[in-house]
Amino acid sequence: MSEKISVVPLRKIIASNSGFINVLLHEAVPVVCLNKATGKNRSMHFKALYDNNNRFWLENGSWEYFLTGEVFANLSTSWEAARLSARGPDEGAAAPESSGGAGPETEGEPALPGFGKEYEAILAMPPVERVKSMNAATKGLDELAAHKPREAEVVTSALVVASRDAALINRATLLGAMQLADEEAKKHTQSLVSSTQELVRSTSQLVTASIFNDELMNTLVAKSNGTVIQHMTRVFLNGLAFLAYYNALVSTSSIINKLRLSFEKKYRDFYRVLLPHVNAEALTLERVFCKGMRAIPEDDFVSWATGFLIHDIGKAAAVEYHEGESEYKRDVVVEHVKVGYTSVMTKTNYPRDAALITGYHHEYYGDPGGYGYFRAYLGRYKKINPNARQDFCITYELEPMLDYHALAYFPAKVLEIIDVYDSVTDPNRKYRKAMTPEEALAMMREEFIEKHHKIDIILFDIFSSFVREQLEARS
Ligand SMILES: [Fe+2]
Ligand SMILES: [Fe+2]
Repeated sequence: MSEKISVVPLRKIIASNSGFINVLLHEAVPVVCLNKATGKNRSMHFKALYDNNNRFWLENGSWEYFLTGEVFANLSTSWEAARLSARGPDEGAAAPESSGGAGPETEGEPALPGFGKEYEAILAMPPVERVKSMNAATKGLDELAAHKPREAEVVTSALVVASRDAALINRATLLGAMQLADEEAKKHTQSLVSSTQELVRSTSQLVTASIFNDELMNTLVAKSNGTVIQHMTRVFLNGLAFLAYYNALVSTSSIINKLRLSFEKKYRDFYRVLLPHVNAEALTLERVFCKGMRAIPEDDFVSWATGFLIHDIGKAAAVEYHEGESEYKRDVVVEHVKVGYTSVMTKTNYPRDAALITGYHHEYYGDPGGYGYFRAYLGRYKKINPNARQDFCITYELEPMLDYHALAYFPAKVLEIIDVYDSVTDPNRKYRKAMTPEEALAMMREEFIEKHHKIDIILFDIFSSFVREQLEARS
C-alpha cells in the first residue's frame, strides 16, 4: 500500500457507528483490502464483500480492510445527510428544547434541524461539485457588481442565496475534513478555502456598494427560518455591511476627532473598569484602540468577513443557535466555539484571523457571562510572563491580543454586537418574541454595557448609528 495514502480501519469505523453499514451498502464505496502476508492491496466495493460475508471486516483471516481518509470523510457527510433526512427519534431527543422543557415543541414532533433543508442537498453533492457551485455563485455576484443600474431585489436575493450556500458548503466539507489527519484535511479543504475567499471578496464588493439597500435587511429577515445557517448568513451580510459603514465613517468623517473630544465625558468610566491599572489621565481613545482607531485594510476586511461567515460552524445540527442567553444549555452551546476554532485552525488553511473570530466571538471582555474559551490560555501566558500587561482594549492585529497586550480583537468585538443583535431581532426565535431594532439597542445598552461590560461601548454607538441610518433609508 502506498505510504502516502492515509487510511482508517473499517473495523474501527463500523465499531464507532454501525449505522455506517447502510451508507456503505448504498454508495459504491471502495474498500482497500490489504493482504497481511504479502503487503499487497486491492480495491473492492463494500457491497461485493458484504454479499459474500456480512461480517467480513471482523474476520481474523489473511486480509485487513480499510477506507482511504478521503472516502471516509465523504462517507461521514453522507451519513449525516441520511440521518437528517431520516430525522429519527434520536434527533428529537438530542434537541435541547425536547429535553430542557423550555420550548413550545409538541411532543413527538421532530425538531427543526439547525441547518435547514438545503443542507441535505449540499451534503449529497461531492466536494468538487460544491466548490463548482460556489464558483458559479461568485461569477454571478461579479456580473451583478459590474452592471449598473442594479435592481435591489435581484442583488439582495443573489447575496442571500450565495452566502447561505457558502455557509452550508463550508459546514458540510469541514465536517468531512474533521475525520482526516490535519495535513490531509488541509489539502481536502484547500479549494473550498480559496473559493470561499473569492466569494467573500465578491460579496463584500457588492455589499459595500449597497449598504443602504433597503431591500437587503428586509429580505434577510423575511427569508429567515430560524436556523443556524440563516443566522450565519445574516450575521455575515450585516457584519460586512457594518464593516463597510465603519470604514466609510472613519475615512470620510471627523468621527475620530469627535470621539476623542467626548471621550472623557462619555466613555472613560466604561474603560476604567476594563483597564483599572491604567492611570485615568492616560486612558484615552488611543489606549482603547491599539495603534489608534483606523479604517480596515481590504485583506483584513475579507479575512474578517470570512470569519463572520463561518463563525458558528462548530454548532451541531441539533443545537439551535443561541446567543446572549447564558442560562440555556450552556455547556452544550459553549462547545461550538471550541469545535469551530479547532476545526478551522487545524483542518483548513483559512487565515488565522478567521479561526480566532470563530473562537473569540463570545468572550465579552472576560465577563463571567462570556464563554472564556481563551481565559486559560491567557492565564498561562501571564504566569510565564508575569510582567505582561493588557494596556489596550481593542487591537486590529492579532499579535497584541495573543501577547497579552490587548483585551480583545477588533473583528470579534464587532461580531459580538452583530451576533446578539441578530438573535434578539430574529422573528423566528422560539423562546421569545422578536425585539424591534430600537428595543434591541436599548436592551443591549442596558444589559451588555451598563450592567455588564460585555460589548464595546464605542463600537456599539457606531453600530447604533448604522442601524438607525438603515431604518431611515427604509422609511
Ligand atoms: Fe456563536
Ligand atoms: Fe452566532
